[in-house]
This record gives sequence, C-alpha cells and structure tokens, in this order.
Amino acid sequence: MNYFSKIIGTGSAFPERIMTNHDFENFVETSDEWIRTRTGIQTRRIADHSKGEFTSTLALKAARNAIEMANIPADQIELIIIGTVTPDSLMPTTANLIQAALGATKAFSFDLQSACSGFLYGLSIADQYIRTGMVKTALVIGAETLSTLINWQDRGTCVLFGDGAGAALLTRTTETNHSILGTKLYSDGSKGDILKIPHGGSKYPHYLPEYQHKLHSIHMQGSEVFKLAVRNMIDASLAVLSDHGLTPEDVDYFFFHQANMRILDMCMKTLKVPKEKTWINLDKYGNTSAATLPVCLDEAWRAKVIKPGDLILMATFGGGVTWASGLIRL
Ligand code: COA
Repeated sequence: MNYFSKIIGTGSAFPERIMTNHDFENFVETSDEWIRTRTGIQTRRIADHSKGEFTSTLALKAARNAIEMANIPADQIELIIIGTVTPDSLMPTTANLIQAALGATKAFSFDLQSACSGFLYGLSIADQYIRTGMVKTALVIGAETLSTLINWQDRGTCVLFGDGAGAALLTRTTETNHSILGTKLYSDGSKGDILKIPHGGSKYPHYLPEYQHKLHSIHMQGSEVFKLAVRNMIDASLAVLSDHGLTPEDVDYFFFHQANMRILDMCMKTLKVPKEKTWINLDKYGNTSAATLPVCLDEAWRAKVIKPGDLILMATFGGGVTWASGLIRL
C-alpha cells in the first residue's frame, strides 16, 4: 500500500498589538513612505509578554484552530514539529509544550531550526514519516516571536519582522489526488553570514567577555539576501514542478515567503504568476519567518480562495541560509 499525506486542517494566530510604520519614526531614522515603498509592509503584530503572548501560546492557538477545522481528537496526533528560531526556551522544546497543552499524549515532538524555511522543512519531514507508515497524523507549525531577537536600533532590520504562528494538520491517505506531491529542501551554510544571529549560542554565551547583547539579534546583509531569495525561490519552484512534469501554468495558486513585496513581485514576474493567483499578507504582518506560509495557507483556505483539488505551490527562503519548495494537490 502506498501512503501519502493530506492536509486536513489549518490555523493561524497573532498577537493583539499592531505596530505601524509611523511607530518606528519615534525611535529610528525612517519613514512610513520608505518602509512601504521599499518593503510593502504597513503594519506588523508584536507579542506582549505581559499578556502571555510567547511563541508557544501563539503556536498553541494556531494548532487548536487547525485541529478544530480537521475535527479530530488531539490524541490521534503522533508527531508535532515546530519550525522556530524563537522557542520559549531551549529545553523543554516548544513542541513539547504544545504536546502537553494539547494532550497529544501519543505524539513525539521536536523543534526544528531552519529560520523562514521552518514550515516547509517540517512539512517535508512529516510527509516522509507519513509516507513510510511510521506516523498517521502529524501537526506542523511555524511560529515566531522575532520581536524578541530584533535590534530595535537597526533600521535596516527592525522594520521588517513581526510575530505570529500558523499550523497545518496532516493525515495519511492513499489518494494521490489530494496529497502533498513533493517537497524540495536546500541549505547553503557557506552563505550563512548574510542572515544570522551571531551571539547567544555556545560560541558566544552571555557570560563571556566577548558576548555583545546587540549581536544577540538579527544581522542581515539586505541586498545579498534579497538577490538570493529571489533566485533560490524561483529555482526551487521550478525544480519541484519539473519533478512532476509540470510548469507554473499548471499551478492554481502560489504561496511565497512574505519578506519583501519587491521579492514577491520578482518571483511572480519571472514565473509569470498573475497577482490574483497568490496570497499576500506581508502588508499586514511583515515577515513572520516560519509562520508566513502556514498563515497564508490558512487565510486563503478560510477565504475559500483555494479549494480541494487545486494545485498549490509554496516556496520560501530563510537565514543560515535555507530554502525550500512544496507542491500540494489540496
Ligand atoms: N528606513 C530608511 N532608510 C533605510 C531603512 C529604513 N528602515 N533601512 C535601510 N535604509 C537605508 C540604508 O541605510 C541605506 O542608506 P545609505 O545608502 O545611506 O547607506 C539605504 O536605505 C539603502 O539601503 P539598501 O539596503 O540598499 O536598501 P534596499 O533597497 O536593498 O532595501 C531591504 C533594504 C532590507 C528592505 C531589502 O534589502 C530587503 O528586503 N532585503 C531582503 C530582506 C529579507 O527578505 N530578509 C528576510 C529573508 S528571510
């Protein structure tokens, strides 16, 4: 018997607080006009610690929404993966916190660190477990509170990111016409310097004299990231399509990582994707890293813009650097 994975539920969650571009004008040299025209971002959500908004609580809300849509008991879930670079703590994992809160007692769970590619990496891993028959139902989450890793004095990065979470619930199927058709995952550590969080790990722990708090935050060479994100998302999209003898014209709907409107425009232009065939929420949420793709999927699904049978293509690019694509027949 050949097994495949089918998405049966999606969910998303955001902190309450909305931060506008104008808010940044109070503490860095920037303007609403610069941020809007150079990035397409207008607002982003920022977690409020005092209201209990952490990566785990956002992830839990998104997971509960996905489980509710799928209408299955949480104890049927056998695997939980969270793509995040902002776990609540290093131990226990945030995935374990979710496992306990959901009462998913049969699930093994782990956090996965591949920055903005976290959701597609997680989806691919869960798909492999389901295809081999080891797991029947899996929960994949992308959740971040990047606001905790932002250098609020660095105008080149602080305006770009936001907090949020998205989730997808997968289950085993034998029908290929409603399943994840394929995923492609890529890494290139030799370019890791262009988007990194240099301090705060085992090389520069907080107690060493060399440790600098301002290096325990996102450091980015914006234009290098920009060029690589465009090229790699396009290449990854074409690669997963070519694996299945398909072209961009065969795709019903596209989901690209939400980092910069100009990156999205270049991907759409090269792949000849009309704007009405892609979901864009970058203007509202900014770049929420691993959360962007599952949130887009959830929003488009709930808005009935995508429907069972549609061919969906997803592509992402993240720090470190990582990138990925996925082809799904809904
Ligand atoms: N407000 C005003 N000016 C800003 C600014 C801000 N928020 N951020 C940067 N600038 C300035 C720079 O300091 C620079 O000034 P200078 O010429 O005096 O040195 C100028 O704008 C141009 O900077 P540059 O980096 O060339 O701008 P850009 O057009 O490439 O846009 C990014 C910068 C960050 C928006 C863009 O490079 C980008 O989006 N990169 C990809 C980011 C990304 O996707 N990251 C996550 C990937 S997962």
